[in-house]
Amino acid sequence: MTDSGELSIERIRSAFVGRRFAYLESTDSTNDEAWCRIGEARSNGLVVLAEHQSKGRGRMGRSWQSPRGAGVLMSVLLLDAYDKWRGEELALLAAVAACDGVRTSTGVDPRIKWPNDLLVNGLKLGGILVESRIMQPGSRAYVIGIGINCLQPRGLFVGGLAESATSLDLESDRAIDRSAVVIEILRAMDQWLASDPRDAKPDLRDAWLSRCEPMGMRVRLRHRGSIYTGTMIDIDPRAALVLELDGGGRRAFEAADTTILDDEETGLLDRDSS
Ligand code: BTN
Repeated sequence: MTDSGELSIERIRSAFVGRRFAYLESTDSTNDEAWCRIGEARSNGLVVLAEHQSKGRGRMGRSWQSPRGAGVLMSVLLLDAYDKWRGEELALLAAVAACDGVRTSTGVDPRIKWPNDLLVNGLKLGGILVESRIMQPGSRAYVIGIGINCLQPRGLFVGGLAESATSLDLESDRAIDRSAVVIEILRAMDQWLASDPRDAKPDLRDAWLSRCEPMGMRVRLRHRGSIYTGTMIDIDPRAALVLELDGGGRRAFEAADTTILDDEETGLLDRDSS
């Protein structure tokens, strides 16, 4: 099932009061575009949407590719004047909001693979890239980039992606309405961002844990060039993944320099909870 194609930027705009949107047919990366617009008036909360990116970025220096008009390619600029959020927390927040927004708008219920990949039936549906800059002491800016595969048909994922990626269209019986996906993700993000971070953070951690792949799953990961295997047991207050290591002991791994691996890069070994 497919929708008629283009995003309706008018519909998205009219769903929010006082929020600025930039809609582009093509750009290098919506994250870059958001950084370029940081000096504009009312840039806090600015949302950049594009139909195509020529240099879409993923985590850990990877690229993010999406055919023109097939995905949600979105970046949200956030000015955190009092340094209330950490980038890792915003990545969890965006993952939870993306899960909820996708479920509300399409009925598809993704799981989160630490730290912020969206999976459906073990296949990658979307990902999140949070970047930050210090504006002045005690004040940071963040760009929260969200990519969701929406209308890609099966044949479009080639090479390794054929076994590891999926799209909303492939996972749903319903026609996929990309504008509704954008609106519901932004609504879910705003609910978190509007609350006091001191209250929101414990709830956010619980929300993330209830949407993530189950703790107790065995994983293999790469951290600063070394490989570790173990059982996922928790995330700590810094959003680092805590493993019970196969060789004994517990260790927390921060997202910035850790990747969960597959056999060939997918990362999941088995679901042994012993
Ligand atoms: C990942 O899974 O590694 C994160 C992918 C993030 C992709 C999105 S698409 C919109 C935004 N602009 C980018 O260049 N990247 C993010």
